[in-house]
Amino acid sequence: MTEKSDLGATERISQMSRSGIREIMDLAWSMENVNHLEVGEPDFPTPKWISDAAISAINSGETKYSPNAGINQLRGRLVEKVRAINQITCDESQIVVSSGAVEALFIALTTILNPGDQILLPNPGWPNFRMMCSLLSVEPVFYSLSSEHNFEPDVNELKGLLSSKVKALLINSPSNPLGVVLGKKKTEEILSFANSSGLWVVSDECYDQITYEADNCSIGSLDAASNVITAFSFSKTYAMTGWRVGYAIVPNSISGALAKVQEPVISCVNTPAQFAAIAALDGDQNAVKGMVAEYKLRRDTALAEAKRTGLQVVHPGGAFYLWVDISKSRISSRDFALELLDKYSTAIAPGTAFGSNGEGWIRISLASPASKILEGIKAVSELVKYKGENNAGN
Ligand SMILES: Cc1ncc(COP(=O)(O)O)c(C=O)c1O
Repeated sequence: MTEKSDLGATERISQMSRSGIREIMDLAWSMENVNHLEVGEPDFPTPKWISDAAISAINSGETKYSPNAGINQLRGRLVEKVRAINQITCDESQIVVSSGAVEALFIALTTILNPGDQILLPNPGWPNFRMMCSLLSVEPVFYSLSSEHNFEPDVNELKGLLSSKVKALLINSPSNPLGVVLGKKKTEEILSFANSSGLWVVSDECYDQITYEADNCSIGSLDAASNVITAFSFSKTYAMTGWRVGYAIVPNSISGALAKVQEPVISCVNTPAQFAAIAALDGDQNAVKGMVAEYKLRRDTALAEAKRTGLQVVHPGGAFYLWVDISKSRISSRDFALELLDKYSTAIAPGTAFGSNGEGWIRISLASPASKILEGIKAVSELVKYKGENNAGN
């Protein structure tokens, strides 16, 4: 039998499943007047002072390569940011600036995992985690995020998935697609499990500042852990998705290796964008507060509409997504998404794009104006009812 890790590059890439969100997105973009609720991208513009900082960096000649791990001034500011916002104590040498959180995750997994190793991944979870595993010949082993355990990782289940091949655990809080924010007690439990099992913890916290009730608990704040890697991003907090700036906080034992991997992958992050990131951190943080307040308003509006129309949803404590139960429609999430697009010109992400546990669910992005979200929820509830009635007994 051919092990996944023995497959050639062409086979691995052809077996890498395409993100199920892309299928709907591509179809939706080929149509007119679609209500786009499928994309996980802030609808706010990047604050002007951030763009201005990039323009002045360009005009003053900051247009050359930077060090692999990022410009020192930015890394210095990030030490302060993670101390103030995430309660993580680290020094500059532990920070690697990356091309978004996605690249931080990719170089981290490249550094810590060998082909054939296994990693525990959330199901449902962001599709790119799985895709990275395909590229690296790493085998994902999925743990469930289900209603039985408040959509949080269950340590007993994680224990049952362990084998000598499992080398790492990936967690994501606030979660895409669930919006679940892990509290301190759960995060401590997860760290204790990882420590006693000798696992790396890769923590994707790219929505760290988008929370509505309790703050996110950064696993890296719990002890000066030698096995925790955290990925953060400017994309969501500052509406900077296209700038491609993120960063990893890593233990000193691997920071040099991550920076080294950076060289053949991207060499360094776009230098003017790094100056924009410094400006983002130095500028008036009320812009961030304003965007988060607006997401919260939309979240509350969406929850009230879901309740009014009888839809079951997961209460999102962070990020900007609503995870909606459409099982009463008795059709697959993919068919539901296709039909919603066809009949209601509304694009959402099918739950199965995030893994098998997404069957019977869809994800609505709250990164759109409230009126559009309301229209979308109404359409979803109508289609659930219509299909449920017509498929009764199937
Ligand atoms: C869970 C999760 N991680 C990482 C990313 C990527 O963020 P970035 O733009 O920083 O690469 C996203 C983007 O949607 C995400 O949802």
